[in-house]
Amino acid sequence: MAYAAKNYEHLLGMDGFSDQLLRNHFALYQGYVINTNKLVEALRELEKTGKAGTLEYAELKRRFGWEFNGMRLHELYFDNLTRTPEPLEANAPLARLIREQYGSFEAWRDDFKAAGTMRGIGWVVLYHDPVSGRLFNVWINEHDLGHLAGCTPLLIMDVFEHAYMLDYGLRKADYIEAFVQNINWEVVAARLK
Ligand SMILES: [Fe+2]
Repeated sequence: MAYAAKNYEHLLGMDGFSDQLLRNHFALYQGYVINTNKLVEALRELEKTGKAGTLEYAELKRRFGWEFNGMRLHELYFDNLTRTPEPLEANAPLARLIREQYGSFEAWRDDFKAAGTMRGIGWVVLYHDPVSGRLFNVWINEHDLGHLAGCTPLLIMDVFEHAYMLDYGLRKADYIEAFVQNINWEVVAARLK
């Protein structure tokens, strides 16, 4: 069964994000969905026709995590944004975990933003490790390097240049501030199992 691109047009008009930037971003996301489907099909075809030992198979196989994560990370990102943001409820289990481990919500937020302003393209992910209960703000290079095995992504921020340059130029920190202002904390808190 093929993956279908989700519609995120309800985000148009969000403070700090132009419609043009968002529409470009939706189109980019749709490309990852298309390529993920193509890769699934191409790999299945190579396998069925006895070509699993080929270089073509190996190279496409290596590419799968990149395309798949490009699709899924964008869904997590758009899903954790909203035009009508509300703060994280102080009594939510996630809020308590953040305070326990970072001292304060603000200290966690500063660390998350600092990770975002690092040089490079990729993602910042707030991960929850269900084994230890610990939280980590993690840098993900491109789409596929740096993920924590078995951990749950709670909050995802895109820091590829396409996520902000049209509106902010080189002012990445201003984009990060706009992102932080539009977080859908209800969605993020519900991701913590
Ligand atoms: Fe993106």
